[in-house]
Order: sequence, then structure tokens, then C-alpha cells
Amino acid sequence: MIYLKTDEEIELLRENCILVSQTLAEVGRHIRPGVTTKELDKIAEDFIRSHGAIPPQIGYEGYPAATCISVNEQVVHGIPTEKTVIKEGDIVSVDLCTLMKGFVGDSAYTFAVGEVPEEVRNLLKVTKEALYKGTAQAKAGNRVGDISAAVQEYAESFGYGVVRELEGHGLGRKMHEDPGVPNYGARGRGPLLKEGMVICIEPMVTMGNKAVVFERDGWTVRTRDRKPAAHYEFAVAIRKNGPDVLTDFSIIEQAIEQVNMVS
Ligand code: MF3
Ligand code: CO
Repeated sequence: MIYLKTDEEIELLRENCILVSQTLAEVGRHIRPGVTTKELDKIAEDFIRSHGAIPPQIGYEGYPAATCISVNEQVVHGIPTEKTVIKEGDIVSVDLCTLMKGFVGDSAYTFAVGEVPEEVRNLLKVTKEALYKGTAQAKAGNRVGDISAAVQEYAESFGYGVVRELEGHGLGRKMHEDPGVPNYGARGRGPLLKEGMVICIEPMVTMGNKAVVFERDGWTVRTRDRKPAAHYEFAVAIRKNGPDVLTDFSIIEQAIEQVNMVS
């Protein structure tokens, strides 16, 4: 069942998505060698709560933290721990949600820690661009498959792998609503996009093979070949005049630029 949102509901989703962007920026400011993913999770949780929202990932199907933090070969759903210490050259994907005024915001961003090999930087760049290619297809009259195909074709044209086992989703009063939004597929297939739909597009792209394994902690997904993977996610409303991106990556990018300038 796909729930179409009113303009008012879309604004409440936008408020959440902006808070998610601000939270990702706050986490990004603290990502540096020596910090643990548990400390980063605490920063996110405190920030979310101090802005009048709650972190709905806590307790979601038993998930134990406010954020998912996935380092290097971890693709998504990494559980923050005291033992996971960030080091120079890592890539760190942070995925988090807020719940406020009855609606959920959801976004993910992959951060580079200091000097990262150029081929890994390129993986981040291309994954973010794949998200933008998919977003350009998020308009009324298109189908979900138009988004999926755009993401897949762009990422694969660089020789990267597109993870099949996880996908984007509708967003609203619940973190996960219909429709599913795969990162691979065929143009002209899948559910029709209609005005008032809000979806999360979230490419998960691997530097090597696309195959993943699910770790025994019940959550963490990593690449089988242990090569790095990137993950960017944001929320888009389907409007009369085309895609309306509810998330604001520029908040995150300004924050990390400032950190890089002072350090
Ligand atoms: N925020 C994630 C998403 O993009 C959901 C994480 S699952 C959880 O869909 F259990 F950690 F919440
Ligand atoms: Co999501």
C-alpha cells in the first residue's frame, strides 16, 4: 500500500529530513582518527533528542542503536561499538533516522577520513552521482524502474558493483513504506510514480564484486571480497514540477569542509 502525502505532510517530512542532515553534519564534524563508532552514535542520539525528535532506529526489529555506522568493507547496518576505532584512510557510512511530529526522516552519507586513496574517493563520488541520476527520474508518470535503471547504469559504467540484497523504500509515518526502490532494474517497469509519493533512494555501491554477506551479529552487511563500499541516501517527494529533494547534503558538505580547513 502506497500512501500519498499532502503538501502539509511533505513539509513535516522535510523538517525531519533537514534535522537528519544537521545530525549527519554534526557526526561528520566529529569523525576523525581515534573516535569510536559508539561515540559517534552518542553524538547523533544526543543531537536528535535535543532537537525534539527521537531516533526510531532504536528498537526497530531489535536494532540496538540510533545510527548504523558502516566502515570500509561494511556496506550498511553496522552496529556502533566501543571497539570500532576510526583511523586515517577509512570511509565511514552513517545512516540515521529521526521521528518528530508523526513523521520520519531518513538519510545516509559516506565520509572520507583524512587521506583516502584516489580510487576510493572516486567510489564515493560515483555513488553520490548515481543517487543524483536516480533522483532525476523521480517524477510523476515515470516508474520505479526508471530510477533503478539510472542508478545501476551509472554505477556499473565505472565497473562498480551494485548491491542487490537491499533497496530504498517509501517514507512517511513509518521508516519503511511501499514501494521498494531497488538500485538495479529495467526502465518502464515497477510501480508508477505519482504526485505525493515520498521515497528514499539509497544506492549501495561496491568497488569490487557486488556480492555481500550478512554478519553473525544479525545486522552488519559487508562485501564478500572485503573491498570498500559506499552508501548515500536521501528522500525525494514526487511533485508536479518534478523531484523535490527533502534532504540537504549541502549542510553536511559545508560542515566537513570547515573541519578540513581548520585541521
Ligand atoms: N535507515 C535505514 C534505511 O535506510 C534503516 C536502518 S535499519 C535499522 O532504511 F534497523 F537500523 F534501523
Ligand atoms: Co532508508
